[in-house]
Amino acid sequence: MCGIFGRVSTKDVVPSVVAGLRQLDYRGYDSVGVAFLRPEGMYLLRNVGPAVDLERRLQLKGFPTSTCGIGHTRWATHGGVSERNAHPHLSSNERVAVVHNGTIENYQRLRTELIALGHVFRSDTDTEVIPNLVQRALEHGAASLEDAVAEATSHIHGAYAVAVISIDHPNVIVAARNSSPLVAGMCTDGGVLLASDEAAIADLAGSILRLGDNEIITLRIQDGLTIRGQDKRATLARLQQPSVRAEDVALGDFETRMAQEIFTQPLSLAATIRSRVNPKDHSVRLGGIERVLQRVSDCRGITIVACGTSYYAALAGARLIESLARMPVHVKEASEFAYSDPILGYQDVVIGVSQSGETMDVIKALELAKVRGALVLGITNTNASAIARMVSAGVYLRVGPEFAVASTKAFSGQVTVFAMLAALLAEAGKRGVPTKTWSLIDDISRIPELVDETLLTHETVTRIARTYAHCKRMLFLGKGYGLPLALEGALKVTEIAYIDATAYGAGQLKHGPIALIEPGVPVVVIVPNDATLRTKVLSSVHEVYSRGGSVIAVASDAVMAGEDGQTITDTSAEVIVVPYVKDELAPVVYAPVVQMLALGLAEALGRNVDQPRNLAKSVTVE
Ligand code: G6P
Repeated sequence: MCGIFGRVSTKDVVPSVVAGLRQLDYRGYDSVGVAFLRPEGMYLLRNVGPAVDLERRLQLKGFPTSTCGIGHTRWATHGGVSERNAHPHLSSNERVAVVHNGTIENYQRLRTELIALGHVFRSDTDTEVIPNLVQRALEHGAASLEDAVAEATSHIHGAYAVAVISIDHPNVIVAARNSSPLVAGMCTDGGVLLASDEAAIADLAGSILRLGDNEIITLRIQDGLTIRGQDKRATLARLQQPSVRAEDVALGDFETRMAQEIFTQPLSLAATIRSRVNPKDHSVRLGGIERVLQRVSDCRGITIVACGTSYYAALAGARLIESLARMPVHVKEASEFAYSDPILGYQDVVIGVSQSGETMDVIKALELAKVRGALVLGITNTNASAIARMVSAGVYLRVGPEFAVASTKAFSGQVTVFAMLAALLAEAGKRGVPTKTWSLIDDISRIPELVDETLLTHETVTRIARTYAHCKRMLFLGKGYGLPLALEGALKVTEIAYIDATAYGAGQLKHGPIALIEPGVPVVVIVPNDATLRTKVLSSVHEVYSRGGSVIAVASDAVMAGEDGQTITDTSAEVIVVPYVKDELAPVVYAPVVQMLALGLAEALGRNVDQPRNLAKSVTVE
């Protein structure tokens, strides 16, 4: 995904456009660019690298001033990472500049047609057809930039959010969207602005307007925001209070977003459960799904679709629902599900899980589920995101905006939501064992304090990370609820430390992965608290130990012993002692250990923790 920012004002907008791009950096940081309208013409600057690099170049050149400009942070899809492929893209006559998120599916045909008409293309991107289509519309009688953008977007197929400026239309930005998010705002200090992400305008916007699919909006100094085809009053009626506050996006005293998001989990998880869980009467309330609760409870089966970290949270969620509510649950990778032929109908429920609410693979999977008649629900962190808008009902994580590419607090929030959902379904369907459900509800209410306790292992975990930072591979083992956490731990380490980390079910070790164990190979083991599972996992620990592997055990008790009487301390190189919690909530309560381990490894290796190579926070293309 990429980021879009634009602002029109009576005052100079250049500093705020650059600041907006810094805020959007997490959406893509291959390359960044800006275009400003200046009396002498279009000012364009593009740079490979993150927004701070562009800012440095602007400083060296002497900051221009402008009252109207657009900017973009890119995560490459069509066309490699280079200055000429960075946005904004200009029309052939260099009078129109465009920034774009998404993909134009029919760009090859449009490009060929435009080249035949004499247009010149300078990049390998799909985007470049848009400024050329706008130029053409303006040359062929479009009365306004808005008309020209309407004409241009009528030719393009695919998902897009675009913002367009033209030197022939000073102090106007026209923006349009289909599927990709775009939000406009009225600034508290005058002027209007827009961004692909509400967080980017949190400190500037007094009110916001979320653009709907196929809508076109014009931003002007004189008359603020106008949606094409609607009168001014209708547009103003759609202005809302921002849902993201400036303090939600502040980094505070932390050095990286990822550290901030890990260490503030007690607070973010307190927000996830606030007013939803009441341990006094063992009740759970999830307002967003109340209306459909009975249908969910009566359904034939639940399928959960998700990608990346959300997929691993879904694996824990499926286990929770099956075990507590005794309902059949399947978890599918969204990108596979979208092109499968699932057996789905009115009696089924499909839940899309996505932190961003924008992941295209999940959107496509949910579209298929809708076509087949299933009840479609969402678990997302982002208000009014594409997924939040397309589902019949859902639950928000409420963990606050997540910026680090490696997801952390969203994972713990997602598993917490699944725990609440499992308890709710167990009660609604009068299934499962009531005392088990009540005890889970009690434990959910203690999540913030337990996570706080886990965070106290920080120093130990960081020391261990430094010890193993130069390993060439790392294994993670888990069993039961520990397996989704092991998978998530391996993903975190791969994503930000670039260490080849893989997770396996502990029982699977002897069926192949054991061949990778040699002296010194670090193997992180999530030790279950359930006595039966623990015995099995401790025998895997022994298998690693006896082949010279270095076990890093995550256990609630350092003296727990296996069948042979040897304690976990005897057979492990390291034991990270975490608070006791029933295994159902281990993926939440022990999550900070694997997150801090990945962070410690990445820092010890000097990696850019918040901007790992090749990744994007959310992937809005298939
Ligand atoms: C990308 C990110 C992952 C994330 C996944 C799903 O691949 O790099 O960190 O887990 O998308 O994102 P979502 O917003 O749908 O949870």
